Amino acid sequence: MAATVFHIQTFGCQMNAGDSAWLARSLRSRGFAQGAFEDASLYVLNTCSVRDKAEQKVYSELGRIARLCGVRRRQGITVCVGGCVAQQAGPALMRRFPQIRLLFGPDGIARAPEAIDRLLEEPSLRLNLLAFADQYEERAGVWQEGTAPASAFVNIMQGCDNFCAYCIVPHVRGRQKSRKPEAVLDECRSLLAAGTREVTLLGQNVNAYGLDGESERPDGAPFARLLRDVAALPGLSRLRFVTSHPKDIAPEVVSAFGDLEPLCPRLHLPLQSGSDRILQRMGRRYDTARYLDIVDSLRRARPDILLTTDIIAGFPGETEEDFAATLDMMRRVRFAASFSFVYSDRPQARAVLLPDKVERAVALNRLSRLQRWQNEASDQLLRSMIGKTATILLEEPSRRSFLSREAADKEGGGEVAGTKPDVFPGGKGTGKQSWQGKTPHGLIVHVPLPPRGKDGWQGVLLPVSIERATKHSLQGKQAGAPW
Ligand code: 5AD
Ligand code: SF4
Repeated sequence: MAATVFHIQTFGCQMNAGDSAWLARSLRSRGFAQGAFEDASLYVLNTCSVRDKAEQKVYSELGRIARLCGVRRRQGITVCVGGCVAQQAGPALMRRFPQIRLLFGPDGIARAPEAIDRLLEEPSLRLNLLAFADQYEERAGVWQEGTAPASAFVNIMQGCDNFCAYCIVPHVRGRQKSRKPEAVLDECRSLLAAGTREVTLLGQNVNAYGLDGESERPDGAPFARLLRDVAALPGLSRLRFVTSHPKDIAPEVVSAFGDLEPLCPRLHLPLQSGSDRILQRMGRRYDTARYLDIVDSLRRARPDILLTTDIIAGFPGETEEDFAATLDMMRRVRFAASFSFVYSDRPQARAVLLPDKVERAVALNRLSRLQRWQNEASDQLLRSMIGKTATILLEEPSRRSFLSREAADKEGGGEVAGTKPDVFPGGKGTGKQSWQGKTPHGLIVHVPLPPRGKDGWQGVLLPVSIERATKHSLQGKQAGAPW
């Protein structure tokens, strides 16, 4: 019998991207085949509800699948919805879209593969896995040689305890639950043994790792210890982590940027607003002076570090003066990239109740001013790389999808939808193909390369000289031997 073909679409953050990668791997190991939208009979949507726009995209995608069922009169289509929209909307989503047979929340994903097996055996069954767990739920499965990506995500925690006023995350992903250090290290070891060279540790607030339920006493020691232990694993070339809350970043983590060889010189440090008054209304528990102190100490530890950030434009009560303070912070810090969003009300988030909502047109205008400024700063940074040599870690043949987050950002949202394997040629008649990889600073570089072995250039570290800067990435040519 032919294998059931599944298609996973991922919306939202890197946590979701990591979850989808695990689910795909787990389904393949159970004998399913991964395929294109048109060929699939099992659809999994791993969803995001952090902003209204992200949520609306999920509904329009569900509509598309529903039409596919109708138009082609296809029977036996199974639709599973996971992630934050599933958690937020709950069983009502099944009533609205009768094609849905499984709902799983961020904590339920560990049991989704078994549930999918059961659904296929029992065509009338519908299930939901929406209960929150008290502890981090381990997921089965080790990496096999040849299946591991060059650069892999490793979850270190679930949920968040911060309850920033605008944010739905603590409501849909539950309280913070840290994974045991040994389990994190074991997964890293198994990835490295299977060929991975770069690991990104993932969590909503990694600096509070190991401090579950203790958010009033910031102490970054457990996370600094974990970083040190992961950095020491044999075979690891590069280490990154995301996301950091400024209030929780400990001195030991800052100094790690100077001490730990594999730790890459790039950090995502969401600022959200440059106005102290707005930061307070957001419940962020730091002010701009503290943020600038952290930036200074990071640059002392690692002078070439690149910083990226998230900004919300039009938070309730934001005046033109508050917004000017945000622009001022952008000028002072000079972020390498920023992801900016128009504020949107989210169910259960405190800010819904705040007065002085900013008119949408005003918020959109502020967003475009932010983005214009950032685009210029990012372009300058990319152009400054021309003529330099950098070692890139090659990940995969070049895809257009690397643009998607930045492209979506322009519309006021930063979600990554399903990726399309839209391969760039390396140049007509050269016999080469373009591969993409990242510099230690996280800049994406495309480089034309000749054919090479079964896995191509995946996982190879290659010196490249940078020749051109395009809108969101760089192009270069090989400038030394691979290693
Ligand atoms: N409206 C707009 N942006 C939001 N974010 C989170 N919640 C909201 C909201 N209600 C942004 C924050 C966060 C990023 C992931 O999404 O900037 O850091
Ligand atoms: Fe949301 Fe704040 Fe937690 Fe980030 S730290 S996930 S913004 S509540």
